[in-house]
Amino acid sequence: SLPKSVRIVEVGPRDGLQNEPGDIIPTEVKVELINRLSDAGLSYVEAASFVSPKWVPQMGDASAVMAGINRKSGVTYAALTPNMKGLEGAIEAKVDEVAVFSAASEAFTQKNINCSIKESLERFTPIMETAKANNIRVRGYVSTVLGCPYNGDIAPEQVAAVCRDMLDMGCYEISLGDTIGVGTPLKAKKMLEVVSKSVPVEKLAAHFHDTYGQALANLYAVIEEGIAVVDTSVAGLGGCPYAKGASGNVATEDVLYMLNGLGIETGVDLNKLVATSHWITQQLGRSNGSKVSLAIGCE
Ligand code: HMG
Ligand code: MG
Repeated sequence: SLPKSVRIVEVGPRDGLQNEPGDIIPTEVKVELINRLSDAGLSYVEAASFVSPKWVPQMGDASAVMAGINRKSGVTYAALTPNMKGLEGAIEAKVDEVAVFSAASEAFTQKNINCSIKESLERFTPIMETAKANNIRVRGYVSTVLGCPYNGDIAPEQVAAVCRDMLDMGCYEISLGDTIGVGTPLKAKKMLEVVSKSVPVEKLAAHFHDTYGQALANLYAVIEEGIAVVDTSVAGLGGCPYAKGASGNVATEDVLYMLNGLGIETGVDLNKLVATSHWITQQLGRSNGSKVSLAIGCE
């Protein structure tokens, strides 16, 4: 059965922009994007990433972005923190929540964060402790849950094991990343069936990229199974620098349009979101990845 409401986690300013080729996107554009998204009713915005600027140059101004935004009350502004250095930066920038990230695939973890899965979990231990001492909640990401660009198919049991470890460590929620968008609805359902034996479905979120155009169908499949937190990116912006061929997350507008049609509440204003989508794609000089925004058009 379908949930009454879904919490949308807007990852556009982070996942959407981290891989943008060409010039570094001005801090002011990132700040305005985040402000527009919160104004559209999104209550959770992943705003930045405290990672190495050598690895991900587009996220190099994370502190300045956090300092520049208007903090709307009731909105959570989150950031990625792969290690203690990142967490320290995030705390200094007064980030509301942080996220740690690992993967169900060894090869992907090596390429993405330069360590093994086991080492990544060990790195998270001090992050969990310090975050807790500072009253900061920690979200966990597990990438490559439906396939890996280097290792191919991933056993759902392997996904479940990493998710369970991150939950036991203290993550309040685990976001399941179909990093390269290779999943299909039945596969997504079967993966969730196995993972939810180790981690209650209430603690799981879906983070689906749309590389093969399956993300919306996959989302519907897992929402039917009880997932009520969905990560999306305005205009379908984005990709992952360490996953060749990866396209953006499923577009926020497309998910919202589907949820509205299902009578599922989100608190997000579609018109404001579509206006923001056209604005940001114009700023970036790229085409819009949302079918809904293309259909509705500009004002
Ligand atoms: P490393 O090279 O092994 O780390 O990278 P290191 O500790 O040896 O440090 C190397 C240099 O980076 C040093 O500088 C550090 O100070 C600096 P140097 O002495 O050479 O001048 N450094 C930092 N600088 C700023 N902030 C930091 C930081 N840490 C080290 N936090 C590391 C390891 C994890 C740092 C690196 O691999 C990294 O930053 N990786 C980030 C990769 C990334 O951001 N990927 C995209 C996000 S994940 C994703 O998109 C998937 C997701 O969306 C879910 C899905 O779709 O599946 C979440
Ligand atoms: Mg992602």
